[in-house]
Amino acid sequence: MAKQEPQSSDEKKPINRREFLNFAWLVSLGFLSVNIAGLTYLFAMPRFKEGEFGGTITIGKPSQLPGVDAGPENFPKVKFWLSNTTEGTLALYKVCTHLGCLFNWKDQEFKFVCPCHGSQFQKNGDYIQGPAPRSLDRFVMQAIDPASGEVLAQTPADGGPMPLPANPDAVIRVNTGSRITGKSHG
Ligand code: FES
Repeated sequence: MAKQEPQSSDEKKPINRREFLNFAWLVSLGFLSVNIAGLTYLFAMPRFKEGEFGGTITIGKPSQLPGVDAGPENFPKVKFWLSNTTEGTLALYKVCTHLGCLFNWKDQEFKFVCPCHGSQFQKNGDYIQGPAPRSLDRFVMQAIDPASGEVLAQTPADGGPMPLPANPDAVIRVNTGSRITGKSHG
């Protein structure tokens, strides 16, 4: 009679159905966790970098703004004209409120004129004449105390000029992700 070989303790047994399902469930859970972590990271990241259109642009100190008697300053890459008036400062979105052409500043006439259908706007963005249904849209500005981070001044909710703070070191910023619609004249 042949002698039976003892069975080795580390001999591999085939995986059964329950073990396979447990393993598959753990792998799926791992993938889900990685996906959730990735999405959380993406949402936590700011969508726009500092200085690009859609994000916040730092202009500098109040002394770096254009003079109140001068024309506005063009910021073509971030799509606004920076106007400084006796009432305060404004960042006017460069797109005409009629059909979206880019309007220009006319130094001799001291006003904005749209080349497409002739709408005109004052230096503070107010509607003068033409087919545009409203004054120019503007971005929210803030003046920040560089020492404390405190907001010293901000564009009012109606989109009027932001009064300049007394602090000469205040940092003026424009948020091109936050646009206020110009007032309708109709
Ligand atoms: S798009 Fe500016 S007036 Fe028509």
